[in-house]
Amino acid sequence: MPIINLFAELADEITGWRRDLHRHPELLYDTTRTSAMVARKLEEFGLDEVVTSIGRTGVVGVIKGRNGGGKTIGLRADMDALPITEETGKEYASENPGTMHACGHDGHTAMLLGAAKYLAETRNFYGTAVMIFQPAEEGGAGGKAMIDDGLFTRWGIEEVYGMHNSPGLPVGEFAMCPGAIMAAADMFEINISGRGGHAAKPHEIVDPIVIGSSIVTALQSVVSRNVDPLGQAVLSVTQFLAGTAYNIISETMVMRGTVRSLSLEVRDLVEARMKALVPAIAEGFGGKASVDYSRNYPVTVNDADRTEFAAEVARSVAGEAKVNAECVPMMAGEDFSFMLEERPGSYIFVGNGPTAELHHARYDFDDAAIPHSCSYWVSLVEKALPLAGVTLYRSCHHTGLSTVIARRNPGDPSLSASAVACWIARTKPGNDDGECGRPEAPRRLPYFRPPNAR
Ligand code: NI
Repeated sequence: MPIINLFAELADEITGWRRDLHRHPELLYDTTRTSAMVARKLEEFGLDEVVTSIGRTGVVGVIKGRNGGGKTIGLRADMDALPITEETGKEYASENPGTMHACGHDGHTAMLLGAAKYLAETRNFYGTAVMIFQPAEEGGAGGKAMIDDGLFTRWGIEEVYGMHNSPGLPVGEFAMCPGAIMAAADMFEINISGRGGHAAKPHEIVDPIVIGSSIVTALQSVVSRNVDPLGQAVLSVTQFLAGTAYNIISETMVMRGTVRSLSLEVRDLVEARMKALVPAIAEGFGGKASVDYSRNYPVTVNDADRTEFAAEVARSVAGEAKVNAECVPMMAGEDFSFMLEERPGSYIFVGNGPTAELHHARYDFDDAAIPHSCSYWVSLVEKALPLAGVTLYRSCHHTGLSTVIARRNPGDPSLSASAVACWIARTKPGNDDGECGRPEAPRRLPYFRPPNAR
């Protein structure tokens, strides 16, 4: 049965988990209920190892394929919600006032759990799949906290894959691109000091609001006049705070905002230009200003080969027409960037249909996306860690027919050259249909060189 049909059967169960998570959203690292639920499910599925408290409230589940050995890859889901009051009116709406799964991380967690259930049951792969459930994606760098806790070294993870739902992309479709797919997301605070006083005596004061206004205008030139038109950046001032009354000119003011960029060069350039412009403008007006620039999430950079592989996997699930392997990057930030700085891999988008945007009070995760995404996860594992092996044939010298007498996995500990020879010797000739009954030495046709064969 195709994997996607199998997940159509599991979809109700996974939807149940998703809606339960949706009713009980938790912020940043406070994902204690969610983490406990994830760990409990993974234990129920019979994973080889379930470890909690990696990166504070992160959970790791390990599924070994058949016969041990092979490569280790990581699949990651995020678990945290947002400080938003939900307005969907759904029957499964948030029961935690002021907190909502408005980015679909409930869906991501449930879908990776669904994949874990399938993989633990079937184990049709040669290698190890590590399920990574991280807290604090929404600004708390929970993924980095897991890396700092030894995520990659402790389990020997060699490649890492992530996915995010995408409103606007039809359900059942996938999108990805090699290179930068999500932006570096930085914050800045500008502190301006002037000389306050009576609003009717402007000639005796240094007005920080006039300085701030000039700075906002000047900052528009950074993206339009300093950044290469082919390099992308966003610089937005989002807070402009000063004053206490209509007739008092404030002594100080504070501005805050964000910078997004898709390369380190552009990131460095924007920071440097801000630090040059802001104090100079304030000084020109007789005041002072400084920029406190904090670098948060780095650029999320997809490895080209792994992304082509991810696209192939997506095509195998959805068909050629439903995969856009050259999508436009998003200027939002992503904690998965830290993981892709450490290990090669790919971060992709999966369709969520025509719902409200991410981080919106009326955003709604579409449960119809579950079978597609779960199928992507398990196909990715089965294709990245294929159950290739040695095929043993016996051929008939009368008919010229070859008969497969065994397929053996390279991880099979008994698969040494001598074990294969011994095994062949014990195989009785003439047992297979199509054989003439006269024995001939079996031929061994390896299409995957077993690691322990000599
Ligand atoms: Ni998100």
